[in-house]
Amino acid sequence: MSSTPCEKYPSVYLLPQTNQLKALMTMIRDRNTIRRDFVFYSDRVIRLLVEEALNHLPVVETTVITPTDSEFKGLAFRGQICGVSIMRAGESMEQGLRHVCTGVRIGKVLIQRDEATALPKLYYSKLPDDIAHRYVLLLDPMLATGGSAYEAINVLLKANVPQKHIIFINLVCSPEGIDYIVSNFPDIIIVTAEIDIGMDSRKYILPGLGDFGDRYFGTL
Ligand code: URA
Repeated sequence: MSSTPCEKYPSVYLLPQTNQLKALMTMIRDRNTIRRDFVFYSDRVIRLLVEEALNHLPVVETTVITPTDSEFKGLAFRGQICGVSIMRAGESMEQGLRHVCTGVRIGKVLIQRDEATALPKLYYSKLPDDIAHRYVLLLDPMLATGGSAYEAINVLLKANVPQKHIIFINLVCSPEGIDYIVSNFPDIIIVTAEIDIGMDSRKYILPGLGDFGDRYFGTL
């Protein structure tokens, strides 16, 4: 089963809503799930997200010879990828990307709320020097307001990455976050596991799973 674009947003792909995915997501949403299990089940969902993101890369037809001396007409990926994680929570997704794409280059951006303006501000970025020629898997587990993702995407665009080369993967989205990103960057692909109902006054996604970074890295 492969993902289908959301009816309302053709650039947003929801993972197939299988019982397996629902059970994994239920584990990580449960506030009683201990950290070891939270990490284990999150990593399984992250792996599914990365595999789905790779479905959006271009491919070319290729022919190989099998051990039975037969020709097999298949496909090969065309184009190179890299990851960019939005620190800190996005770093939790780096291992899942490395498991699927060995040797993948991974850049980082650090965006935090500016205490004076209350707006997201870029504090640090380090990207592969050839990023303009790569497809970028942008990593952040939660798309809440979309403020950090907006800043991170602008960093990529300034580095000459075309919008249509950016695949933003996350575990949970708020409808507000999707609206914000899709309306500003209509050519970016978003791959997500679940779309939630909204956000609370502190901008936590509802029903959500709490603070992903704190639960994953054990800093509660
Ligand atoms: N970041 C999180 O970790 N959780 C939310 O609900 C929103 C943003």
